[in-house]
Order: sequence, then structure tokens, then C-alpha cells
Amino acid sequence: AHSSPLTIAIDGYSACGKSTLARALARRLGYSYIDTGAMYRAVTLHLQRDEVNLEDDAAVTEALRQITIAFRPEDNHVLLNGEDVEHQIRGLSVSKMVSQVAALSKVRRAMVEQQRRMGADGGVILDGRDIGTVVFPDADLKLFVTADLETRIDRRLSELLADGQEVQREEVAANLEERDYIDSHRADSPLRMADDAVLLDNTHLGLEELVERGEELVQQLRTAR
Ligand code: DC
Repeated sequence: AHSSPLTIAIDGYSACGKSTLARALARRLGYSYIDTGAMYRAVTLHLQRDEVNLEDDAAVTEALRQITIAFRPEDNHVLLNGEDVEHQIRGLSVSKMVSQVAALSKVRRAMVEQQRRMGADGGVILDGRDIGTVVFPDADLKLFVTADLETRIDRRLSELLADGQEVQREEVAANLEERDYIDSHRADSPLRMADDAVLLDNTHLGLEELVERGEELVQQLRTAR
């Protein structure tokens, strides 16, 4: 059928605009959107609150057993054991630890399993670092978004300031560079562009152009089927 629901994978570096793209594209297509980074952030918040030592395997296992992560359908806010933690997970305190948490295989296994379940019926867009390579290697469409580091720093800084967080540009810059490094050098599912992904450079594109490019690719895919 020409309109069978697709699975769309969007990967890329931190703050490249991929979640803005994913959200806008999902709205236009009437698809659901799964922000997988928010899931790793929610796990990180829980581990921080409980002061879990990341090297204590049993404690991490126990913590994972205690948490349920969900997305509230109305606004896509992430819920940690039912609590809306959307604001807390965006702060620098979580951002500074999330890459270490996301490098733990135990954590990845639990998240990937849940992501596959949530996306099993298609009609879904997931964004993250390993969606096209690991979570849904057979996704119908894979996008890989990039942007210059300076552009990404500006973008994340204005998001944080708009959210009322007190941060310095240098701090944001250091965090993005550190996360990019850890995310692309970890042993388990490092960030990399899938061989069959389409590269979108967001440095000079406006959101509207980026979303249109995504829609074009979806249309091409449907026509080809
Ligand atoms: O997309 P984000 O910046 O909110 O993601 C936060 C962190 O979570 C990111 O630095 C790496 C990790 N992550 C991951 O390892 N795999 C994913 N699919 C999504 C995020």
C-alpha cells in the first residue's frame, strides 16, 4: 500500500537540529515521535538522584529495574516513573553525565529493547545516535543530520537560555564537544552514519527547508513503492 506506515531513523551529533526536524516531520506525517536521547537523559537523572555509582554493575541493574520511562502523548514530555522530568533532563547537570551513562551496555540494552517495542508498528520517527545502525537497521528512511560546531553551540545555548537555565557559552561548548567525542568513540553502538543514510547539513538550512527536504525524501520513497 502506498501509505503503509514508515519507520524513519534520524541520527546525528548533539544539538544539530535533529529533534526539531523529527518533531516537525512527525507532526506533518501524523507519525509518533520518539526522542531516544530523552530516555538516556531520564535514566541519568534517576541515577543521579539515587547517587548510583556507574561502576557498580549490580546497582545500575537494580536502578534500571526500578524505572519506567514513557512519553506523555499530549506534549511528548518524558515521564520518569510517571513524573514529568522534561525540564530537569535538559539541564547541564544531566547533560554532563548522560554520555557516560549511555556508554553502559546494560543501559543501552534496556533502552534499545523499549525503543524497538515502541516503534514496532511503524508510523514512527525516532531520533538519536544509533537508530539507523542498531535500533532499526532496516528503517525505511535514514537521515543523518550535521551542522558546524559553532552553529550547534549557538543553538543549544539559546535553547537553554530560553528555558531559563543559567549557563555560559564556554560551558555549553565544552559539553557538546565532550559528548560528541564520547558518543562516537564508545565501544557499544558508537554514533556513526549508516551506509544507507541521507546526509543533511543543517548549518545553512532553516528549519522549514530541512523539514521540506525530509518530506521530499518521504514522498520519493512512497512513489518508488
Ligand atoms: O539527543 P540528546 O543530546 O538529548 O542525547 C543525550 C545523550 O544520550 C547523547 O549525548 C548520547 C546519548 N544517546 C545515545 O547514546 N543513543 C541514542 N539513541 C540517543 C542518545
